[in-house]
Amino acid sequence: MPMGTNGREIIVFEKVSKVYPLGETEVKALQDVDLVIREGEFVVILGPSGSGKTTLLNLIGGMDTVSSGRLVVNGRDISGLDVKSLTEYRRTQIGFIFQFFNLIPTLTALENVEFALELVSDNTRDKARKALEMVGLGGRADHFPSQLSGGEQQRVAIARAIVKDPPILLCDEPTGELDYETGKNVLRVMQEINREKGQTIILVTHNSAIAEMSHRTIRLHSGRLAEIVEIENPKDAMELVW
Ligand SMILES: Nc1ncnc2c1ncn2[C@@H]1O[C@H](COP(=O)(O)OP(=O)(O)O)[C@@H](O)[C@H]1O
Ligand SMILES: [Mg+2]
Repeated sequence: MPMGTNGREIIVFEKVSKVYPLGETEVKALQDVDLVIREGEFVVILGPSGSGKTTLLNLIGGMDTVSSGRLVVNGRDISGLDVKSLTEYRRTQIGFIFQFFNLIPTLTALENVEFALELVSDNTRDKARKALEMVGLGGRADHFPSQLSGGEQQRVAIARAIVKDPPILLCDEPTGELDYETGKNVLRVMQEINREKGQTIILVTHNSAIAEMSHRTIRLHSGRLAEIVEIENPKDAMELVW
């Protein structure tokens, strides 16, 4: 069994394919993917551009639905959910972290995080503050995104993703826009969240050095699983070199 997990299956792909229409023909973005991800795993997905990485994340995230096969998340088959149920699924199960932070420029860091809680109640501000502290930005709560560096903005985005405490975090090229040291700091924050809170993290990147901090690395090629590698001794994010 891979490290970092209690063994419980949290995401199960059964012969999943995803096909997009393209003019008269179609693009097979994913083909016959069989994959089990266990609770608490930190999984890195590698593969060249167009290999299906974002499609895989979007299916798990309920941003898109499978063309065939079954996708079971936290015991629930999400393959056939309607739009409303998928929205509810995303709200409760998934935190997203994107390449381009996607913060709201007119809101402060604290407000950006609080906004993710949707229903404002007495303790939303406290929860948002705690999430900012978790990513080391307690002192920047009242700054606007334009007053923060790229790495700080990405950490606000991480706080926003974890504030509702979703069991699964999906990250698509989260360091793609960051310089070397800043990128590693962002990865360190994700590793801490995985280690301390046990959240399952799936991180897509084309930087193969990042694989060394994962519990498992999955390589996609032309929409198929080309290779799965278990990492015996995952490195600390700050030890990565690329
Ligand atoms: N919405 C879409 N419509 C049509 N084709 C798409 C769509 N999304 C992705 N594709 C195609 O599916 C394949 C996989 O894309 P993607 O998952 O974005 O790859 P990656 O993230 O690895 O670069 C590519 O050939 C891409 O052009
Ligand atoms: Mg992509």
